[in-house]
Amino acid sequence: MAIDIPEAPNPYLIGYNEPVRDESDFADLEVTGNIPAALQGTYLRNGPNPAFEPVTRYHVFDGDGMVHSVRLDEGRASYRNRYVESQGLLAERRAGRALFGGLSEFRMPPAELLEEAGMMKNTSNTNIVSHAGRLLALMEAGKPTELSWDLETVGEYDYHGALAGPMTAHPKEDPDTGELLFFGYSPFPPYLRYHQVDPAGELTRTVDIDLPAPVMMHDFAVSSRHVVFFDLPAVFDLDAMLSGGVGIRWEPDNGARIGVLDRQDLDAGVRWIPVEPFYVFHFLNAYDEGADGRTVVVEGCRSERLNVNFGDEAMPSTAAGDPVRPSLHRWRIDLEAGSVTDEPLDDRPADFPRVNDRLAGRRTRYGYVGHTRSWADDDVEFDGVTRHDLNAGTSITHVYGEHAVCGEAVFAPDPDADPETAEDAGWLLNFVHDRDTERSSLVILDAQAMEEVARVHIPRRVPFGFHGNWVAE
Ligand SMILES: [Fe+2]
Repeated sequence: MAIDIPEAPNPYLIGYNEPVRDESDFADLEVTGNIPAALQGTYLRNGPNPAFEPVTRYHVFDGDGMVHSVRLDEGRASYRNRYVESQGLLAERRAGRALFGGLSEFRMPPAELLEEAGMMKNTSNTNIVSHAGRLLALMEAGKPTELSWDLETVGEYDYHGALAGPMTAHPKEDPDTGELLFFGYSPFPPYLRYHQVDPAGELTRTVDIDLPAPVMMHDFAVSSRHVVFFDLPAVFDLDAMLSGGVGIRWEPDNGARIGVLDRQDLDAGVRWIPVEPFYVFHFLNAYDEGADGRTVVVEGCRSERLNVNFGDEAMPSTAAGDPVRPSLHRWRIDLEAGSVTDEPLDDRPADFPRVNDRLAGRRTRYGYVGHTRSWADDDVEFDGVTRHDLNAGTSITHVYGEHAVCGEAVFAPDPDADPETAEDAGWLLNFVHDRDTERSSLVILDAQAMEEVARVHIPRRVPFGFHGNWVAE
């Protein structure tokens, strides 16, 4: 007798991931505690939020971008959320249904959309950054999407035609020079490009970089002197993708290497140092050691293998039956000797690493990482933030609540403090969802005390998202 086994609901479409479909504005939000007067500005956070029922197997990386923002002004708070209105989403709205596949199940869009919206929808769902007066929503497979300051979509932005190829969702602003440094990777040659944007917002330099194979490179690291790329074996398989399969595979046989570019001598090219394969989605920071500029140190969240499964049954994380969890590591790269050491800093699972960005590229004492309640392949629950004192080798963890699920804690510096002498003077901002009450809040922690100072109650649920930033005014 046949038994009907209902298909398990897609975990990325239920619970704290369940998309919201409205665009709303709420003023004068209820606040528990006191919003610090110095917090004057806007917290912005991007994330995936599919506008239509997916037509193919949905992965959380596929959803349409939606920016949730909370403006803090003289102790009062207001909320706004808007879709990133990509050409692909506009076409889907006209059709009244989803038209694009995703990472787990690629599907060519209708021919008439190829020209208009490209092979993949530029969801711009991963991060939102400001530089040189522009607000850019980012997703690594596409160009930036410019948003107005009231979060309306202006359109794709390519630096007046100067940007060839896509842009990572993790550009780095140098707090000393005001430059924005970033890369873009592509499944088509050149597989990697490095770009520099000057403080006025002009793209002034692009360097094409050779890689043995096209790889998914989510983030990179930048110190005052160096740019560091991690070529790790999450390899693109275009044939598999175009036949509707999984287009990214873990292939340790491709090897792994760390590449260093000298910002003072870009023409010298990338110096590559081979390493044993591992994977990193996010870096905490990088800094130079010693006066000769020959050693660069990088910190980030390292896992043994690629720790995201796009639906491939052969993926090691599934085949081994044991989820692959990242934890905080430090690499010391000796350019003279051509060697790399790898030092684990903590054995707890962690991701979403952040520092006080006013010290990005220099040695930072404090690193903030997401703390997890549980970590399975498709189900990672962050419930707090851990502040590491990397000088002392100690840490403090703040858990937002028994039923809390949170995202990345963003460090908002105290504008009245000198980061050189008071690096941790500031606050950590995070959207926190309560699984019990289904209510969402913006929670503000004092980053020195690691204690909650204010909880802004959002009169709607804010789904889990990716990255955000604080834009002070
Ligand atoms: Fe990311």
